[in-house]
Amino acid sequence: MRADGDDDGKTSAFRCLDAARYTVAAVVTVLIVAVVVTSLKVVLRPESLRLSVVDGVVYSTPLPASEAVTLQLNLRAENPSGRARMYFLNVTAYLFDGATPASTPTPDEDCIIFFNPTDGAVRQEMAVDLMTSVEATNDPGVMNQTYFELLYADGRVIGDMTLRVDGSLVTEVSSGFNMTRLQVTYYCRPLLVGGSKGGKVSMGRKDVLCTDNLGSQ
Ligand SMILES: *[C@@H]1O[C@H](CO)[C@@H](O)[C@H](O)[C@H]1NC(C)=O
Ligand SMILES: *[C@@H]1O[C@H](CO)[C@@H](O)[C@H](O)[C@H]1NC(C)=O
Ligand SMILES: *[C@@H]1O[C@H](CO)[C@@H](O)[C@H](O)[C@H]1NC(C)=O
Repeated sequence: MRADGDDDGKTSAFRCLDAARYTVAAVVTVLIVAVVVTSLKVVLRPESLRLSVVDGVVYSTPLPASEAVTLQLNLRAENPSGRARMYFLNVTAYLFDGATPASTPTPDEDCIIFFNPTDGAVRQEMAVDLMTSVEATNDPGVMNQTYFELLYADGRVIGDMTLRVDGSLVTEVSSGFNMTRLQVTYYCRPLLVGGSKGGKVSMGRKDVLCTDNLGSQ
């Protein structure tokens, strides 16, 4: 042990204290910045409605008695916001095959078939199922005839299909004030079309989340 060891110990203790102070200051600054950035995000980008296709399947049932096929779609709408109620209105869902771009400006003409789900009101942190079905006959005005044959006569299950969902999204804050009405488009892919609910097709299937873009093909 050295005689001046005491002095050295003091100096280094002070240095440590300074370093600790700076560290605390830096951490506090980072926290403040993080809080500011997070609140800006909340203000600038309100959470939007989450849409998904339950099981990732549009089920189909051939109806030989009426020479028709029923297509059933279950769209699940989830509101992630704890503050705002959301309304999803005037919804049209168009089904496309892999060969047709779902972003077409004329979806009603280019799709295989379309659905008109009823309007949905989705409360804070809740989910609502918008269930809809269409009964298609062998009428080219209702359904593409190639696909009618595949689903009605052959009972096939078709893969790599895309659903485009167009609608208006209204966000209602502090119960009683409708803030925004936005035209929104979602794309849900890849989907299966065919088979029956609870049958082989639906086993082990996960819901397919819809996004606001077509993504990479
Ligand atoms: C409802 O949807 C159709 C088709 O997407 C669109 O042409 C029409 O402008 C919409 N109506 C309203 C009131 O948003
Ligand atoms: C039906 O779909 C097939 C495959 O995408 C396409 O080649 C054909 O032109 C479509 N038929 C009509 C009438 O749109
Ligand atoms: C907000 O819009 C929805 C859908 O149009 C409507 O049902 C609701 O009453 C509106 N709320 C207010 C406060 O205007």
